[in-house]
Amino acid sequence: MIPGKVRNYIKNNFKEGRVACLTGAGISAESGIPTFRGKGGLWERYDPQIYANAPGLISILRTHPEELVNFIVDFYSILLKAHPNLAHRALAVLEKENILSSTITQNIDGLHQQAESQNVIELHGNAFRIRCIQCSQLVVLEKDKLREMIESFKINKNSYIKILKVLSRYFPRCAICGSRYRIDIVLFGEILPADELSRAYKHLNNCDVLLLIGSSLIVYPAAGLPLYAKERGAKIIEINNEPSSLSDLCDYIITGRASEVLPEILGVLGYA
Ligand code: OAD
Ligand code: ZN
Repeated sequence: MIPGKVRNYIKNNFKEGRVACLTGAGISAESGIPTFRGKGGLWERYDPQIYANAPGLISILRTHPEELVNFIVDFYSILLKAHPNLAHRALAVLEKENILSSTITQNIDGLHQQAESQNVIELHGNAFRIRCIQCSQLVVLEKDKLREMIESFKINKNSYIKILKVLSRYFPRCAICGSRYRIDIVLFGEILPADELSRAYKHLNNCDVLLLIGSSLIVYPAAGLPLYAKERGAKIIEINNEPSSLSDLCDYIITGRASEVLPEILGVLGYA
């Protein structure tokens, strides 16, 4: 599936610690998590103007709490069931073999860590974590606790006040500064975590090759990272099942499913 020219490039240029990758929802599609855009995508079923930004979420909580609960239940039921697929696992192997320096991801599903990648940079946060709105203290949201929270939401779904009570139970006040916790997901219009972004730039400054995997690359600033790497001399390889908005920027394109292409790359490098 990988064209011969690209195979040769990979064989000769994937040097120790000189490869980075940027992943998007497409890498988790085969773990059962729908992508955002395209057929069957999350934003086809839920309007991102409501469900992906803070004012929209607050307003739907007040006016239609049951619809917000349906969204949360739908979203988390899928995430809680998902397991890493062969693509996540192949990246973890590439990291272990010291080829891949880092996995920069737009995903919030935690599947790279579940696949045992160590150096994961989460540009858009993590759905299994809460963050203090004041001091940014992070706390892991255990899966059992999340399941319990979902059940409480379901029981109380028709009442705004009852939902608020459930929220205050699972999003308590910060033990350090007394402010509230919120989910650690970057919503539309919010700034990306500065430390994660600067770690990403550091790795892009030091890579020869950047793999773009399973992303439409239309959401900035994440979609600005490939150009940043390219301007610093990196070659760009896209692995996607259809062209992205940055395909023209890429030096090599591999069209296919991430879970098939990435194991094949392991084979090319002799790690399969
Ligand atoms: P998108 O849904 O925009 O794009 C997913 C891409 O993956 C598309 O280009 C698909 O063609 C491709 N794809 C689907 N299945 C694939 C497979 N099995 N193998 C390879 N490629 C596949 O998702 P993202 O680009 O990740 O932001 O979206 C970027 C951001 O927009 C997300 O992080 C999220 C969203 O709004 C926030 O939550 C802030
Ligand atoms: Zn705090």
